Amino acid sequence: MRAAIVNAFGGGFDIEDIDIARPIGREVLVDVKASGLCHSDLHFAVNDFGMAPPMVLGHEVSGIVAAVGPEVSEFTVGDHVVGSLVQFCGACLECLSGRTVSCLRPEATLRADGAPPRLSRRGEPILAAMGTAGFAEQALIHENQLVCIDPAVPFPEASVLGCGTITGAGAVLNAAGVRAGEAVAVIGLGGVGLNVVSGARLVGASRIIGIDLNDEKLELARAFGVTDGINAGEGDVVARVRELTGGGVDHAFEVIGRKETAEQAIAMLRVGGTASLIGIHGAGGMVEFDANGLLREQKKVNGVYMGSANIKHDIPLYASLFLQGRLNLSDLIASEIAIDEINEAYEELGSGRTARTVITR
Ligand code: APR
Ligand code: ZN
Ligand code: ZN
Repeated sequence: MRAAIVNAFGGGFDIEDIDIARPIGREVLVDVKASGLCHSDLHFAVNDFGMAPPMVLGHEVSGIVAAVGPEVSEFTVGDHVVGSLVQFCGACLECLSGRTVSCLRPEATLRADGAPPRLSRRGEPILAAMGTAGFAEQALIHENQLVCIDPAVPFPEASVLGCGTITGAGAVLNAAGVRAGEAVAVIGLGGVGLNVVSGARLVGASRIIGIDLNDEKLELARAFGVTDGINAGEGDVVARVRELTGGGVDHAFEVIGRKETAEQAIAMLRVGGTASLIGIHGAGGMVEFDANGLLREQKKVNGVYMGSANIKHDIPLYASLFLQGRLNLSDLIASEIAIDEINEAYEELGSGRTARTVITR
């Protein structure tokens, strides 16, 4: 099958023909129909996050089940599915409490010792990164990392559910606990940030302030529920938020992964507010804040990973909200590309102009 391979950090993606194994155990073989270009994959392709080349990245996957391993119980051939990088065992205390993103034994979903490599190139093993490896024609995914969805959801929209939506909307619904009537600011209106906006609209935030460097993003964000847009390149963002809200927001979400914007998120809170940090920082990234200010103003800093999602619950929920017309996914899809256009598409993502680009051919 064709796949986009990272052969060296920072070397981009090479389109090559590789081999994929037959499903064993609880693995599901998926014909990939759409694969979203999340910004995290760009981080993983450039820097060492513990995944080593040669590897296939891609963790926003939707498709159709082509074959199932002998122990698979949840899926049958022909099912429409969405994959996720959240690996969980389903049996540890964290999993049993519903906190699957904090699973104590995520390695439970890896292939059994001694099994042949799941992906290979003339016999040389290739890492199926995150257990999804969606930048390919097919993917072998453990059934815990897959969810069945209504075939009425188009594949590009379905793929985004697997990361951007569960991460963004989940940060609001599961982690921050935004309440109806509260004021929210979202810094960074990319594929994830726009889903934070959606979450804020779903829970009935009184005001949703979108902040980005790009005017096109600010405009697009209105289709998701942003009520006020601020261009971060024009003036003091924190002062502007305070002015708009008469003292600061109840919740600020940082959805980029930068020191300055994380510090802005904390600074733009009103007394008792919560800053949720979602964006992934470079290795060893640090954030500073005024410690006395934090305690005097009783602010909270909240680290959120993968929207604290429980994919088996959350992905069908968002799919259903989409089908009811209550969750905008379609405006996230900026363009559909062929797999061999992946390098150009990631360059475009770096420019901050587009929301999600999805590989569909
Ligand atoms: N101030 C405001 N907005 C900014 C700034 C800044 N200083 N720098 C960048 N942005 C905007 C970009 O213009 C873009 O719209 O942040 C947005 C980032 O969006 P994407 O590149 O699409 O990233 P996304 O896929 O949404 O991921 C965001 O979440 O999951 C993590 O790893 C992911 O760290 C990444 C973050
Ligand atoms: Zn992602
Ligand atoms: Zn577990």
